[in-house]
Amino acid sequence: SILILDFGSQYSHLITRRCRELNVYCEMLPCTQKIADLDWTPKGIILSGSPYSVYDEGAPRVDPAVFDQGVPVLGICYGLQEMAWNHGGKVDPHDRREYGHSTVSVVKTGNERMDALFAGQGDDVPVWMSHGDQLSKMPEGFEIIAKTATSPYTAIAHREKPMYGIQFHPEVTHSPKGKELFDAFLKICGCQRNWTMSTFIDKEIARIRDIVGPKGRVIGAISGGVDSSVAAKLMHEAIGDRFHAVMVDNGVLRENEAKQVHKMLSEDLGVALTVVDASDLFLSRLEGVDDPETKRKIIGNTFINVFEEEGLKLEKEAEEEEAAALKAGKAHEAKGKYEFLLQGTLYPDVIESISFKGPSATIKTHHNVGGLLEDMKLKLIEPLRELFKDEVRALGRLLGIPAHLVGRHPFPGPGLAIRILGPVTRSQVAILQQADKIYIEEIRAAGFYDDISQAFAVLLPVRAVGVQGDKRTYDQVIALRAAQTTDFMTATWFPFPFEFLCKVSNRITNEVQGVNRVVLDISSKPPATIEWL
Ligand code: XMP
Repeated sequence: SILILDFGSQYSHLITRRCRELNVYCEMLPCTQKIADLDWTPKGIILSGSPYSVYDEGAPRVDPAVFDQGVPVLGICYGLQEMAWNHGGKVDPHDRREYGHSTVSVVKTGNERMDALFAGQGDDVPVWMSHGDQLSKMPEGFEIIAKTATSPYTAIAHREKPMYGIQFHPEVTHSPKGKELFDAFLKICGCQRNWTMSTFIDKEIARIRDIVGPKGRVIGAISGGVDSSVAAKLMHEAIGDRFHAVMVDNGVLRENEAKQVHKMLSEDLGVALTVVDASDLFLSRLEGVDDPETKRKIIGNTFINVFEEEGLKLEKEAEEEEAAALKAGKAHEAKGKYEFLLQGTLYPDVIESISFKGPSATIKTHHNVGGLLEDMKLKLIEPLRELFKDEVRALGRLLGIPAHLVGRHPFPGPGLAIRILGPVTRSQVAILQQADKIYIEEIRAAGFYDDISQAFAVLLPVRAVGVQGDKRTYDQVIALRAAQTTDFMTATWFPFPFEFLCKVSNRITNEVQGVNRVVLDISSKPPATIEWL
């Protein structure tokens, strides 16, 4: 696999993405990583870009051992400058920043290994540039392999060693031939193309078994979302019923959610699962609460209380089972204590914590269940920490998780409590559940579900006058939200066709008691957020 050393560029994680798309496993670590401390041998090393200049005080420096491993090294942008810096080259601030589309002319050296990086890409390659500094003097032993009109040293390669540096960013989609360049580099590295989700399953199952050991149990909270379900199924494949999942019904889930998750995970997939109906507790603590942040806090804290209590029960059962096994002289059947907490952390969260943040690269712990870990004396286990969301979905499909669940929109932890404006009561929850169910059903029926990133109904805290039959009504209002986004940081609203909106509105006002109006939310983010609270 490939080692990517991150110097803090906003594009670093895309390098990981491109290599994985080419079925090569790669790992990104901060640029301060010492090669001698690695417990694996990379087949190639990629140095990322950086917001720094190589001559900045406190600029990040790579372990020079990187260049002595005998494995191919590719420096991208700052990575190129860092490579040059280490080999007697000179980098200067350029009088004109190069930013945006550009075309590089490939320079054939006649040396097959040096020319291999641009092999098959033609003479002129469209690329994306984003840099202020550039090489002004060639480093020792290097030659030019591509140039642009304004910068003669756009790409360089070493005459004897497999070292390459490029000034542009092949990892961004604005470099249309970027993937070919990575493909060429991975060929130079002699990488096997065997990173697929099915090899991941085998590898990860082995890793989990290794971490957990032949005895010892794992507990995990399941939300019903794709990440926790996939993580749970994977744990089950690895250690069977030494993994126990807990789903907390907080009273603000979607209609029948707890039942459906139970059916899918427990009955269909065989995962040991306890569903705890704590809805009374949650709803009583939420009584009369209007403020969104207070709702979130109550739900978060109550979740921890309920989960811990359930954990203690399971722990006690495990101890009794253990004692019984020993007493019966069946020590080999004893499954041990709960030692680990499963978490469905994904790679983007990990990137946030491992990316290089400055001269003193800090590795932040990123778990959001800190309280649970300390109180319950558990260690964290994160089987999805290497994966991107679409990889988790592919993994889910391979593990037999139903397609409708694998492609599901995200659902917030505080659930319907942040979609009911005003106080949360059982009857308000029931109204919103019904309206939301109709809305999502119609979205699926119309084939829009996969084009929308997140769709849901919101129950507004107003009453409006209506007429139904011959009677005057004074009922509530449902707002329909459908957001399109890639990163959930900015979003636009989905342009539903008129007929679709008529149908949903009719169904909701006819079928949901207590609602006489439906409105459509046509706000983008910013200035609105996706959720209403
Ligand atoms: P906003 O409303 O901030 O939402 O535009 C962005 C994304 O975050 C989700 N969200 C939450 N998820 N706990 C969660 O687990 C929360 O408190 C929370 N608030 C918002 C929201 O559903 C959307 O996907």
